[in-house]
Amino acid sequence: MATAFRQPTPESGSELRRYERLFIGGEWVAPLDGGIVDSIDPSNGKPWARVAFGGPRDIDRAVVAARAAFEGPWRRMPGWERAALLRRLADLYREAAPEMAILETRDSGRAIRESRNDLGAHHHWFQWFASLADKISGRTIPIDDSVHCFTTRLPVGVVGAITPWNAPMLTTVWKVAPALAAGCTVVLKPAEQTPVTALELARLIEKAGFPPGVFNVVPGYGHDTGAHLVAHPGVDKIAFTGEGRTAKAILRAGADNLKRFSFELGGKAPHIIFADADIDQAINAATSSAWAVCGQSCALGSRVLVERPIYDRVVEAFSERARKVRVGRPLDEATHMGPQAHAEQLAKTLSYIDIGRSEGAALVAGGRRLEDGALAEGFYVEPTVFANVANDMRIAREEIFGPVASLIPFSGEDEAIAIANDTTYGLTAGLWTRDIGRAHRVSARIQAGIVWVNTYRYIRWSTPYGGFKASGWGRENGLEALDNYLETRTTVVSTTGQFPDAYAQ
Ligand code: NAI
Ligand code: MG
Repeated sequence: MATAFRQPTPESGSELRRYERLFIGGEWVAPLDGGIVDSIDPSNGKPWARVAFGGPRDIDRAVVAARAAFEGPWRRMPGWERAALLRRLADLYREAAPEMAILETRDSGRAIRESRNDLGAHHHWFQWFASLADKISGRTIPIDDSVHCFTTRLPVGVVGAITPWNAPMLTTVWKVAPALAAGCTVVLKPAEQTPVTALELARLIEKAGFPPGVFNVVPGYGHDTGAHLVAHPGVDKIAFTGEGRTAKAILRAGADNLKRFSFELGGKAPHIIFADADIDQAINAATSSAWAVCGQSCALGSRVLVERPIYDRVVEAFSERARKVRVGRPLDEATHMGPQAHAEQLAKTLSYIDIGRSEGAALVAGGRRLEDGALAEGFYVEPTVFANVANDMRIAREEIFGPVASLIPFSGEDEAIAIANDTTYGLTAGLWTRDIGRAHRVSARIQAGIVWVNTYRYIRWSTPYGGFKASGWGRENGLEALDNYLETRTTVVSTTGQFPDAYAQ
């Protein structure tokens, strides 16, 4: 029997919520290593929950449990039964989403209206991948009468999922839904800053009736708990979202057993506005896509490329819009933008604002930490706009992960494309034009995993998402996501059973 571990929701928010157990092998267990760590509410810098952090021995236990489940009940379970479990999970998730959105907002600081929209859609991932769980099939490969050749697709095995703090549940669901649909088992290590909803997801998975060990959650720090998961010889694959530098460390640490990797590593997306665009719509998209999630999203249109004839107008519109953004307490329904998710990220953003100034970009809106009244203790920063940005400035090259838009002027298609592609990243891109030929010409030349034309940040469970270049390996979402969690086996059967004696003469 699982032990109850949750306290009722405190109304005031003053009482700490308790998540003092890890979820391993279907049981709620106290950590062997690690301990109980406070989770910070970034809206006031104060602890709001107490969370069990595991260490290496807890990862060991979780990997053993995941392996046992993989070799045992999960492997034997037909796809349609996995699908039924995933559908049950989808229903439970949908029911729980409003409450989970509040918890994610408390842990990450994301404005409640954003969390609600985001988590309110996650059940679609479980439903959509449920619908694929019993349709994973190979091919028959025609050769000639002497052989029958076919492929079978098999689950990779035990997956270590490592997720970030900016969109904790989104990045989790993107991994867990296809991994379980494919027949893998999972050990999830959520980000140390935002571990709470991962444990809530474990509760739903338990309630849905998944066999013990199919899904395990061990919160903890990256450098020990995460690193131990990556290096573990019992883990067949790592699915990671986070920073490129971390991905390189993960590659080295996981090299010993040549495990599989998929990486989603952020971007510095060009959001291109041509002079012939519907400017009002483009500005709606470009402003919200520069500041969404308080700037903490890999899909951000952080480099806004604007054609010269409309450059001044767009700079003006951006500055005006920046003043309309209501930065405030994230649980307040009126709030557009909450704080940065943690103190380190706030410091990073403020330092990039200084860098932008010293590089000679024109700060035309925002740029300050907000510390007045109710915001005093939190990690708030104004939506910020830099004009006259050159693409070789650091604010145009490095991922800031704060609400900082860099407006870069260009002349004509070729220059737009050259600037757009002059980056080490290649995750997302957007372009606005009313010229359909230009839309196709330009989008075809942009080096990015997803290009949005006259829209931005349009992402569904069915739309493959992932990076070119330093933005990552592999694709999440869509049919392609299953590839991360499957191996292909080719079987060749001779129809004659004849094999020539190589040494007969
Ligand atoms: P990070 O890459 O350090 O953290 C992401 C996850 O990796 C966390 O769960 C962390 O505990 C884990 N981790 C860290 N070191 C590890 C290791 N050696 N082995 C295994 N797991 C490890 O990202 P961080 O430091 O939190 O954020 C820094 C910057 O990274 C941000 O400012 C942003 O620019 C970028 N970032 C990009 C994200 C994206 O969506 N692509 C998400 C989060 C951060
Ligand atoms: Mg870190």
